[in-house]
Amino acid sequence: VVDSRRLAAGAPDLAALAEAQAGYEHCELKRGARNFVFADGRAGARVMVLGEAPGRDEDLQGKPFVGRAGQLLDLMFAAIGLSRASPDMERALYISNIMPWRPPGNREPEAAEMAMMMPFVERHVALADPEVLVLMGNTPCAAVLGKRGITRLRGQWTQAFGKPVLPMLHPAYLLRNPAAKRQAWADLLTLQTRLRET
Ligand code: URA
Repeated sequence: VVDSRRLAAGAPDLAALAEAQAGYEHCELKRGARNFVFADGRAGARVMVLGEAPGRDEDLQGKPFVGRAGQLLDLMFAAIGLSRASPDMERALYISNIMPWRPPGNREPEAAEMAMMMPFVERHVALADPEVLVLMGNTPCAAVLGKRGITRLRGQWTQAFGKPVLPMLHPAYLLRNPAAKRQAWADLLTLQTRLRET
């Protein structure tokens, strides 16, 4: 962690941060992954989304949220007018994960693995400087807020890294539990209201 803190603090911009994180050698997950997955979308967007870790598709393509869950994530944000591809910064989205390497068999990253990455995540948020941060599912809530229980946390604004933070249900969870999409929709509207007010 000391090493990641020093590396992250020394990165003056996102390109330097990506390079520093990609070169971090103390995380076992790096050795099992095909690709380093840093971010997608537009840095400087009003909304930054933090997921858990790359899955199979993300590991293959080197981009976050490009598999089935990612397709649903894109539809969810498109419903409130936001997109990672938007040329209009007002409507743009920036997407990353707590963990830049795929855990074997898509297991959840361990607490110690996430702890090593947190200085990079914190610096990533500071450099991307979104107005709000969305945490997708339990794992980023555990890493960033030190709390679990997404069904309780979702839709409730909180603070982290000096930013307003909104926990939401993970799209992979919504694929398994389609009835919960109503709650995700309510949370998207909460986000939209906030963006309109500020
Ligand atoms: N799930 C995540 O949390 N992140 C991804 O990038 C893909 C699936």
